[in-house]
Amino acid sequence: MNDSEFLPSADSAGWRIIQLKSTTSTNDHAWKLASEGAGHGLVIVAERQTGGRGRRGRTWLSPPGANLTFSLILRPFLLPEAVPPLSLVAAAALFSCLKTDIPHLAIKWPNDIYSGNRKLAGILSEMKMKGRETDFVLVGIGLNVNALPDDLPPALRETAVSMRQATGRQFQLSQVLHRFLLAFQPRYEQYCRHGLRGSLLEILRKHSYLSGRRVVVKVDGRTLVGTAREIDTHGRLLVDDESGSCWPVTAGEATIMKMDGSEQRGDAHGSGG
Ligand code: BTN
Repeated sequence: MNDSEFLPSADSAGWRIIQLKSTTSTNDHAWKLASEGAGHGLVIVAERQTGGRGRRGRTWLSPPGANLTFSLILRPFLLPEAVPPLSLVAAAALFSCLKTDIPHLAIKWPNDIYSGNRKLAGILSEMKMKGRETDFVLVGIGLNVNALPDDLPPALRETAVSMRQATGRQFQLSQVLHRFLLAFQPRYEQYCRHGLRGSLLEILRKHSYLSGRRVVVKVDGRTLVGTAREIDTHGRLLVDDESGSCWPVTAGEATIMKMDGSEQRGDAHGSGG
């Protein structure tokens, strides 16, 4: 990526893009700017993150310049409890803009994109409240675009995949980012106005990686074993336990259970190449 790569269409759909050579984490950078008053629609994209973060305290590793690592600053008029599904909105937008290029694409609740059985993208959303209201939301996305297995630590080679690996082609980072922003905009507006319904919910349900599969879900230190069903209008994953009771899971870590009862290797990792 060169310095001006993101500039020509920096205004796509009203988004404003700040491009950094290096930062600890685009979410940290965005948090600072938003705390200082940066408005809705600012996008921070970095060529290199020295402290990229994943969910649950994990790291996000990405070879400099090969992939997209970026964060959106959003200031939605949403109650704090309506904010978490924004990760699913971002996942639906990623799915939509990648589906024509990437084979075997699926959305793994609550915030990953898979191609086949490997992780292509991860989403880390964070929120700041002002009193009891939402002040701002950050949607941080790591999308593996052009990285090759040799660019990754051995542990990630079997669990992560890039667009390049999945297709045999290289992609221009700026084009992929702009495609995402164009796909995200209408879905974000749809969610803010109507919640998770209609075409948005349809994408999440139709292309769910987990639905119908045996899963182990870890929520607040408890473990639920069962079969994943659909995603409901609150963005919860419905899981039928062994006795047939249905549990709506708001947040957690879901891993696929293999035939022998063990958890699918690599499925739980929270970092990508
Ligand atoms: C996960 O899969 O656990 C979420 C990974 C999110 C990674 C992105 S990269 C851009 C933004 N900055 C970060 O430090 N993390 C997110």
